[in-house]
Amino acid sequence: MDAQFSFFEQGPGPRTEIAPGAVHVPGWLGLDEQRRLVEACRAWAVGPVPIRYTRLPRGGVMSVQTVCVGWHWRPYRYTRIAEDVNGAAVAEFPDWMVELGRRALVEAYQDPAAGDDYTPDTALINFYDGEAKLGMHQDKDEKSGAPVVSLSIGDTCVFRFGNTENRTRPWTDVELASGDLFVFGGPSRFVYHGVPKIRPGTCDPATGLARGRLNITMRVTGLTD
Ligand code: SIN
Ligand code: MN
Repeated sequence: MDAQFSFFEQGPGPRTEIAPGAVHVPGWLGLDEQRRLVEACRAWAVGPVPIRYTRLPRGGVMSVQTVCVGWHWRPYRYTRIAEDVNGAAVAEFPDWMVELGRRALVEAYQDPAAGDDYTPDTALINFYDGEAKLGMHQDKDEKSGAPVVSLSIGDTCVFRFGNTENRTRPWTDVELASGDLFVFGGPSRFVYHGVPKIRPGTCDPATGLARGRLNITMRVTGLTD
């Protein structure tokens, strides 16, 4: 059955370098890989630290729901124990995800050695319902300048990729669809970015997600216990 379906599946689309070090690879993940990731994320969403709406220090609550592996993120630091959720130790970062991160860099940078020194140790998994948004921000709680690997499954979104100076223009809006890879490293590692819009109902249930958007960002924290 899968073999038949895969006959109709498209391979990766054309790579686009959005900015130096920032690369979009449409359709990088096949349906099987997307389904496996959805299953893994479902399990992590249950525990040991359940998925939650993150509270912001000034009292707001994010509209995106987040669960982490490897290190637990809360604004604006990483810990092994999720004191702000349930006091449990975060799930381990699996070896297969390190491998996936390395393959992503090889593909994005079209360099067989690009993943050799890459060992991501945390992933933030965000779930967006049709209304969720993510404001412009930098990923800067990591003490490493290694690239961020972003994988998207489910509803298409508008991903806004800006500049390293501030939250305002210039920016480039990219449509991230299910299976897309986006890598930002090098001079683009600390670019402000956000998700201003989800396109509800664009999700293909064959991914294992009936609705909404899942985004996984792998990072190197540069932290040690
Ligand atoms: C993030 O910036 O952490 C997530 C980006 C995305 O959802 O595409
Ligand atoms: Mn981010």
